[in-house]
Amino acid sequence: QSRRTVRDIQARKGGDPVVCLTAYTTPTARLLDPHVDLLLVGDSLGMVLYGMPTTVGVTLDMMIAHGQAVMRGSDRALVVVDMPFATAQESPAVAFRNAARVLAETGAPAVKIEGGREMADTVAFLVARGIPVMGHVGLRPQMVHAMGGFRAQGRDEAGAEALLEDAQAIADAGAFAIVVEGTMVDVADRVTQTVPVPTIGIGASAACDGQVLVAEDMLGLFTDFTPRFVRKYADLAGATDAAVAAYAADVRARRFPAPEHTFQRKVST
Ligand code: KIV
Ligand code: NA
Repeated sequence: QSRRTVRDIQARKGGDPVVCLTAYTTPTARLLDPHVDLLLVGDSLGMVLYGMPTTVGVTLDMMIAHGQAVMRGSDRALVVVDMPFATAQESPAVAFRNAARVLAETGAPAVKIEGGREMADTVAFLVARGIPVMGHVGLRPQMVHAMGGFRAQGRDEAGAEALLEDAQAIADAGAFAIVVEGTMVDVADRVTQTVPVPTIGIGASAACDGQVLVAEDMLGLFTDFTPRFVRKYADLAGATDAAVAAYAADVRARRFPAPEHTFQRKVST
């Protein structure tokens, strides 16, 4: 079976929900790939893998290295790589140059760009020149400093209208799908009813055309904080804690390694 394409994802509007998770590394990509339609190499990796306080410090080189790792670990899902802070905002030309590096150096066929109306020209510029773009509206973590924190968007009617206009502008610009993050359920529903491409929700609505979560969040592996919109499907942090405690106890008691873990010289008699 060949890899999903941006056309396959776009064609899912109003159909079977698009299943998405983040992946940053080869082993994680291998585990998720059989189950999902889309693997997102999210710039959330700055916080989840590198312990950064926000995604603002993530670089293009980091995204490219992790994009390569996820491509090596997958052969079925569409892989989309985030454009990190300040690599797409300056101008369409700069965005094109940076996104072209991502496609050329990772082999992934698409990028994701955070932004609304102010990024529509850039999205159109890239799409017209052969770089498929996934949009990202609503709560945009790269705007953390402008927002003064992470908070859900579209709380009042003016905010809801603004979010709807952002999504419409990004869809008109040619995005093949749009992540809708951190907004009121009715706003996500209106966006989903309005735009002609799939909406991928996170902290949005079950009526979105697809859903995405950070894999480490839903696996219970990233426990610094758990946002309201995460459902924990496993407790890998707890499992890891128990496993490492058992290993430490075995080493201290000289129960590990056992004979079957060691190489023994054959003794002739
Ligand atoms: O960086 C990320 O993980 C994301 C998704 C959560 C949408 O942008
Ligand atoms: Na992101």
